Amino acid sequence: MDRARWDSWAGAHATRADEPWLISKWETFPGVRWPEAKIALMVEDIRVKLGLGPERVRWLADIGCGTGWIGRRLMAYAEAVVGIDSAEGMLELAARKAGLALAAADAGALPFPDASLDRALIYFMLMNIAEPERVIAVMREGMRVLKPGGKLLAGQMPLASRSADYDREKARHLAYWRERGELGEDTSRDHAPPVVLFADDFGQRLARALPAPVAALPSFNHFWREGEPVQCTWRVDYLITRSAP
Ligand SMILES: C[S@@+](CC[C@H](N)C(=O)[O-])C[C@H]1O[C@@H](n2cnc3c(N)ncnc32)[C@H](O)[C@@H]1O
Repeated sequence: MDRARWDSWAGAHATRADEPWLISKWETFPGVRWPEAKIALMVEDIRVKLGLGPERVRWLADIGCGTGWIGRRLMAYAEAVVGIDSAEGMLELAARKAGLALAAADAGALPFPDASLDRALIYFMLMNIAEPERVIAVMREGMRVLKPGGKLLAGQMPLASRSADYDREKARHLAYWRERGELGEDTSRDHAPPVVLFADDFGQRLARALPAPVAALPSFNHFWREGEPVQCTWRVDYLITRSAP
């Protein structure tokens, strides 16, 4: 089901795959631009959380890589970045640009041996998996492939308790761009992923299930624009470091 949904998204958006896009609670708005300054802030937020640089790590996986726009920007920090996605259509879009190694796989069954990756990123992705048990299974699989001392960042998990803040900020963000005539069409007809909101204690549930310490950090503010805070309170990133043996 996930695959068919994302293959259909890839087909519908094939001609504008290079446009950084914003996924919101219910729809995508290709007309809301992600300028390089905003992308750079997001990548820096990810870099710091994953403890990347100045030395390159060996292996980094971008799980649920989509068009690969984030993974490609992390290539400066790893000798090899592998983009994993279950939708062939998304991988075709990702393959249009050189750099990322790509593999078709489900995030719950990664094509890596145990303890082989230095870093793993799962970004704007777990919110689309409807069942919390599957989210936990994906995180367990991520832990399996991490080397001791390796780090996994699951970014942009929407918090149910902050849903009203999200709605307010989204309305403000869209109004700002609408006033400037820069809001694109509503593409929810092409693509309506489920968006799961997580309970505040989901991090504790994860920590018990993995088991590993889970740090809950404020997510990058995906509604960022000049003058707005870089991090937000309505989403959380979970950072897990695999303990040394
Ligand atoms: C919202 S997009 C995000 C893509 C990318 N991480 C980004 O931030 O632009 C979610 C991506 O996850 C992929 N995906 C969804 N479920 C997956 C699964 N179970 N295994 C692997 N990839 C999956 C989809 O095909 C899609 O490309």
